[in-house]
Amino acid sequence: MADRYQQFTNSSVGKFLVPKLGLPSPTPLRRYEPGQPLLDGPALLGAAPGGRLEKTLTEQLRAAGVELHSSAAADGADVSYGALVFDATGITDPQQLRELHAFFQPTIKQIGTCGRVIVLGTPPELAGTTRERVAQRGLEGFTRSVGKELKRGATSQLVYVAPGNEGATESTLRFLLSAKSAFVSGQVVRIGTAGSDGAAVSAPAEWAKPLDGKVALVTGASRGIGAAIADVLARDGAHVIAVDIPAQGADLSSVANAVGGSALQLDVTADDAPRTIVDYCAERHDGLDIVVHNAGITRDKKLANMDASRWDSVISVNIDSQLKINDALLESTVLRDNARFVGVSSIAGIAGNLGQTNYGTSKAAVIGMVDATAPLVAERGGTFNAVAPGFIETQMTQAMPATIREPARRLSSLSQGGLPVDVAETIAWYANPASAAVNGNVVRVCGQAMIGA
Ligand SMILES: NC(=O)c1ccc[n+]([C@@H]2O[C@H](COP(=O)([O-])OP(=O)(O)OC[C@H]3O[C@@H](n4cnc5c(N)ncnc54)[C@H](O)[C@@H]3O)[C@@H](O)[C@H]2O)c1
Repeated sequence: MADRYQQFTNSSVGKFLVPKLGLPSPTPLRRYEPGQPLLDGPALLGAAPGGRLEKTLTEQLRAAGVELHSSAAADGADVSYGALVFDATGITDPQQLRELHAFFQPTIKQIGTCGRVIVLGTPPELAGTTRERVAQRGLEGFTRSVGKELKRGATSQLVYVAPGNEGATESTLRFLLSAKSAFVSGQVVRIGTAGSDGAAVSAPAEWAKPLDGKVALVTGASRGIGAAIADVLARDGAHVIAVDIPAQGADLSSVANAVGGSALQLDVTADDAPRTIVDYCAERHDGLDIVVHNAGITRDKKLANMDASRWDSVISVNIDSQLKINDALLESTVLRDNARFVGVSSIAGIAGNLGQTNYGTSKAAVIGMVDATAPLVAERGGTFNAVAPGFIETQMTQAMPATIREPARRLSSLSQGGLPVDVAETIAWYANPASAAVNGNVVRVCGQAMIGA
């Protein structure tokens, strides 16, 4: 749906009036197009003394075609950085957090439109001393605050890399630097945790087609976010099995045809749905690599007015059916090694939402599903992660009253809603074979919404 306010702010009248009135000014975000360079300008790489990632980061950035600077341009020099990347793994004491100030304070104003800030640290729980643990935990407040200060579509993230997983960062670095992460900001990504410490990471033969030869199942794929996931996974080389209820059959076929995939009409809550999925994947595709539990419904009412059927239907679609499908797949032989499971949570599952006790419960339970299942899947070289979308422009949000929709759009650091493709790109990053050590994460795709933790 068109964001008329954003169109206005980017018109000549809007550009004149909006700053004078102190109103939010959403920048049109840079989004991925095949062949596009990773960044719009050079990256400046810095490190606290004793960091363990600087060498690998240098190699990975160079391999991705990024022009790399290792010292800041002279004051007043006309450099617009595409990214500021800082290895903070050498920080072992809160006093050394001063290194962040020393690197970012002189350079932060030189970050370009839709630029990127990435800080890399050690997961606090794996730090060697109390003071190191405290200091590493502090990085989170720094990157989230920077995200709120950045302007013009720029984003800020923290990546915790478990020791021994230094070589497992490439897919994450590429995703977070690129336009694929346009609507992801203020997030903390963990690499090498949740049972995936030292996971065998294989770089794809072609970064533009990382999912070549993979089979992906996407539920709720006939429209909205699910259709975008089907599209992006197919663009990355996967054969997509698009699943939706029979009533959505016509739209489902259009999506499946458009991405060269297959359509499977199925209500995921049906008793025989898990068996049907296993048999379908075994007979038609000889295996399954990627499972995206995207199908979801809302049945909103304040708790006092909510009948049991509204409660039951939301729990059934949004979590219970997914657990049953996981069980059937994990017990079967259809799931290939290094499988990827992705859940779709919501910021309502993190912050709660008025009128959504059923939905918020189900979406928090999706996070529980990630926590409980990620270590099990890791035993077979797989991963289980989730996305938690914020305000995304779909039929679901189009149905909101305008008085709620407008403020909801602006209540993020990027002052706008995201697009279905933003959620899909995040899922494609999880699915990438080089993301084998990215496990147990819940990354919000919310433009750093002001609500929730
Ligand atoms: N749109 C947002 O802003 C937003 C925000 C947070 C989370 N989400 C989540 O993202 C996911 C997709 O949302 P959307 O906005 O694209 O919604 P949507 O309503 O446009 O699409 C959901 C799809 O799921 C299908 N579906 C519902 N029940 C099903 C069942 N029993 N079996 C098979 N398919 C079923 C629907 O037919 C529909 O095609 C949902 O899980 C939703 O909760 C959306």
